[in-house]
Amino acid sequence: MSPKQLFLFDPSAKPGTGAHPGTSLAQTQPAAPAADPLSLPEPPADKPRERMEWLVTILEHHNYLYHTLDKPVISDDQYDALFRELQALEDGYPQWRSPHSPTLRVGGGLLGGLPKQRHRQRMYGLDNVFSAEEWQEFVARMGRTLPEAPLSFWCDPKLDGLALEIIYENGVLQEALTRGDGEEGEVVTEAVRTIRTVPLRLRGTGPFPERLEVRGEVVIYKKDFAAINERRESLGQKLLANPRNAAAGALRQLDVSHTQTMPLRFLAYSLGEVRWGRALPCRYQHELAARLQDYGFLTPPDGRLCADPGAVETYVEQVRQGRADFPMEIDGAVAKQDDLEAQEALGFTARAPRFAIAFKFPAMQVHTRLTGIEIQVGRTGVLTPVALLEPVAVGGVMVTRATLHNEDEIQAKDVRVGDTVIVQRAGDVIPEVVGPVLEERPAGARPFAFPHVCPVCGEAAHREPGEAAWRCGNISCPAVRLRSICHFVSKAGLDVQGVGQKWIEQLVSSGRVSSPEQLFRLTVQDLLPFERMGEVLAQKIVDAFDDARHNATLARLVSALGIRHVGEQTARLLAENFADMDALAAAGTQRLLELPDVGPEVASSIRSFFASPSNQHMLSGLREAGLWPAAVREAQSPTDDGPLRGKKVLFTGTLSMPRSKAKQLAEEAGATVLGSVSKKLDILIVGENPGSKLEKARSLGIDVLDEAAFLELLADRTAV
Ligand code: IVH
Repeated sequence: MSPKQLFLFDPSAKPGTGAHPGTSLAQTQPAAPAADPLSLPEPPADKPRERMEWLVTILEHHNYLYHTLDKPVISDDQYDALFRELQALEDGYPQWRSPHSPTLRVGGGLLGGLPKQRHRQRMYGLDNVFSAEEWQEFVARMGRTLPEAPLSFWCDPKLDGLALEIIYENGVLQEALTRGDGEEGEVVTEAVRTIRTVPLRLRGTGPFPERLEVRGEVVIYKKDFAAINERRESLGQKLLANPRNAAAGALRQLDVSHTQTMPLRFLAYSLGEVRWGRALPCRYQHELAARLQDYGFLTPPDGRLCADPGAVETYVEQVRQGRADFPMEIDGAVAKQDDLEAQEALGFTARAPRFAIAFKFPAMQVHTRLTGIEIQVGRTGVLTPVALLEPVAVGGVMVTRATLHNEDEIQAKDVRVGDTVIVQRAGDVIPEVVGPVLEERPAGARPFAFPHVCPVCGEAAHREPGEAAWRCGNISCPAVRLRSICHFVSKAGLDVQGVGQKWIEQLVSSGRVSSPEQLFRLTVQDLLPFERMGEVLAQKIVDAFDDARHNATLARLVSALGIRHVGEQTARLLAENFADMDALAAAGTQRLLELPDVGPEVASSIRSFFASPSNQHMLSGLREAGLWPAAVREAQSPTDDGPLRGKKVLFTGTLSMPRSKAKQLAEEAGATVLGSVSKKLDILIVGENPGSKLEKARSLGIDVLDEAAFLELLADRTAV
């Protein structure tokens, strides 16, 4: 296949189809070089020099198949055996050791500081455009500078990594430099040698350019980054903020043995100085991309030749839509004049090329100030810390609050009020605080002291051993009461239709309603004094509660009570096994334990609920208000209108409830529970110590919820 054929594409094809190492993104790969290393005859053991040459060649080929193409043809053990054989031969015959032996990828010594070196050609940045108008203006400017410039562009995603230049002479890697300030970079040759997707010798049979400066980006794939941080977390180490910083840190390591443990990848997208010598020069950027692949490089996924400026706009939109599906972080798309002669004629401004432009996407990770930490009190009394943020756009969405989960999380991240913090949205997930920017910590910022009293009622809070949450234990705490009453009427409770949560909040906070049964005694006269309440609305609300009173089933009422560990599914089970609330209230532990899925914890929670005098008082109020349903078999199709209706979900990690329970809850909410992570999955729900499913889901850009957020969703309330 010729390089040109490789890039015959369907301009309407959507990025995100096809195969790319480790992902489903399209990446056209070169045909095998003319001389297939695997077909080389294997020299016998008594010809060590030939055998060493052969081993270098085929080990590098297997290395390419494994790391660059992601298509190994031998097992790791087979590779290791060949590698060890080469190492042994090199020990025995050091004079024959090849300068591009794969054994040299294994870095040893400590560098004494990174030396600096000038780039032969400056490494420019790119100017940005943010709209179609700005793009059209760029094209018009190009036309004014060079009227004969063709209007086709090679486009690829803008990789959010670290720019690097690798210098090859006659096909052999000589040096590698970071971008530095564009004029002068740091020499990182030894670190770059450890990157498995960097060819130590260009692939193919040559002839190769006498000098070739290959430029590209060092990145860490999202799935690899997630795995690094999971590991660091389990070791109690500080988490890395993002793949770009992690890649930069790894590449600039003085001890190269650290670099080689990091999953760095290099993707090539342009050239610096080049002396083609006897090698055939390229005429087009699209040819260059194919040539770089032939030489053994990875190139940015989903590169496309766009025949006119309109096609570029379509391409950029597709990349924008598919952003979460890329295996690495991207922060835009780049359009480059396809004709390399025109590129040269257009040249550079003081800052950037006139032949290329970046379409910048909104940042997914931003810095903002943590102005406070608010403690929210939930229905079960759990105190949840919420970060209050100076408003900031993350991935195009304004963010002012983000959950901090619990005391341990705040401590682990060491975020302090006044800190500049990194806030991110990965995929479409709820915003989260990644951590503080320590260099910007204001003097005197003190660690957050998690309150040991409820911020609403002032009663002592407690944290049980083995639990992450502090709880307010006061059953008449106004916050607990408000949340409980909201839960009582929510979808997970009686599902009272047509009464907005705002009204419930007003009724409770004004003191008019302090217990659920009072909702069912409200009259139009009681409601009229409220601001913006008219006769019609008041009547509607009264009717809504009346309807709920008549339609309530025992299962719904049990669920509405908000007994700890009793969700909709358990409530249904209880309703199927007891004639009415009296029978349930009278049931002893033994009787409860006979029910499937009711363990000691659930049984004890039910018992203590009915033993509480204030709960008994509330129940008698409900009975008097006429809300006392007997058991009837409910229609078994709660899936029609649940908050997860139509969603495909999957659980991973350790949840606070049995997996079967979680599954039932999800199904009741309308979800289908899948067995593995795939593109079909809508939401991954993660418990403690999630495994590889989380990485995979993140790399596919699938929504991820923690258990608390999942439960919030079931309760039909927003997370924060
Ligand atoms: S082409 C003359 N293509 O973004 C410059 N650059 O912010 C030609 N970058 O310094 C560069 N992804 O290091 C090109 N697909 C891509 C890129 C890309 C990332 C970097 C590049 C540049 C920086 C500008």
